[in-house]
Amino acid sequence: MKIGDKQYSLRFDSKQWSGRVDSISRSLLQWYRNQGRDLPWRNSQDPYCIWVSEIMLQQTQVERVKEYFHNFLLRFPTVFELAKAEEAVVLKYWEGLGYYRRARQLHLAAKKIVSDYDGKFPQDVRALQQLPGIGRYTAGAIASIAFDLPEPILEANSRRVLARLIHFDSPLSGGKSEQPLWDVAASLVPRDGGAGAFNQALMDLGSLICRPVSPFCNECSLVDHCQAYQLGNVDRIPYMPKRKSTQKLEEKAYVLVHEGKLLVVRRQPGEWWEGLWDFPRTIPENMAARGPQRHQGVISYSVTHHKITCQVLSKMISQRPAVRRHKRWLLPREIQKLPMTSPGRRIARLAEKVLF
Ligand code: ADE
Repeated sequence: MKIGDKQYSLRFDSKQWSGRVDSISRSLLQWYRNQGRDLPWRNSQDPYCIWVSEIMLQQTQVERVKEYFHNFLLRFPTVFELAKAEEAVVLKYWEGLGYYRRARQLHLAAKKIVSDYDGKFPQDVRALQQLPGIGRYTAGAIASIAFDLPEPILEANSRRVLARLIHFDSPLSGGKSEQPLWDVAASLVPRDGGAGAFNQALMDLGSLICRPVSPFCNECSLVDHCQAYQLGNVDRIPYMPKRKSTQKLEEKAYVLVHEGKLLVVRRQPGEWWEGLWDFPRTIPENMAARGPQRHQGVISYSVTHHKITCQVLSKMISQRPAVRRHKRWLLPREIQKLPMTSPGRRIARLAEKVLF
């Protein structure tokens, strides 16, 4: 089959495909008008709002993003406020969303948009992709949703819809292996208006109907075109390579106390949660501990493919040595205002319950 100017050995020939393109977009857009999700960022054409929502949505579920999107825009209503803010404040508004690199890059990109483009978003996918944190998907989403440019997108939901539509049975492992799906997406996106709606419709269809397991094929507006359905292979497509198995780790975290203040440390470049605050995982060598070490509890958490069990221990420190910039002695109420890692926040709660 020919898609765009490339030949693929997929299930139907190029004539059939070009005959289907209009029908696929029409059916999908009609379904979207009636059944599409009403999401907060869809009330706006402002590229700034769309960009913030897309970065939040990169690794986070829609329901969770809804909780953060509103507060983030209240505090940073335009790209100028975001560019002016301190990184720690941006991280504070991101606390709990995870993948904090996204927030740091969002902040850097805001500075660049203000300094290089007078605060106006470039209307071109190549220029957008030069900005920190904006890859092919996010550039396509901003270009199509905010500027109605006929740019394709491919993310988890639309990837599944398109893979089933054309019976794409190679492993979905990112990079070049997915080029055929980008070409299919590009061949379908409407050129005469409605690109943003079409792309969002694909994502909604993937989320609501074409679900990973037990999809609602009998309610799907694309079922007549779906090769995976016709061949009875919906359960096998998309074919996902095996994930890395999880690794179990054990660690200790220390709540070091001196005159009602607790020692917190800032995560350094190269560490998980760079820029966020946490409790130390070792007792610094120069600290004179006094009295017994107390067991405060156990927390467990996951980071990438690690499952970590963390014993929380507390210890009184008799003399408080001077600490450098990435360490601070703070009262619990001061710690509340810092952007904390998620285990750090849980350790702070444990410490408050048991110590104070
Ligand atoms: N996932 C990523 N971007 C999205 C969007 N704009 N709407 C719904 N889900 C999404």
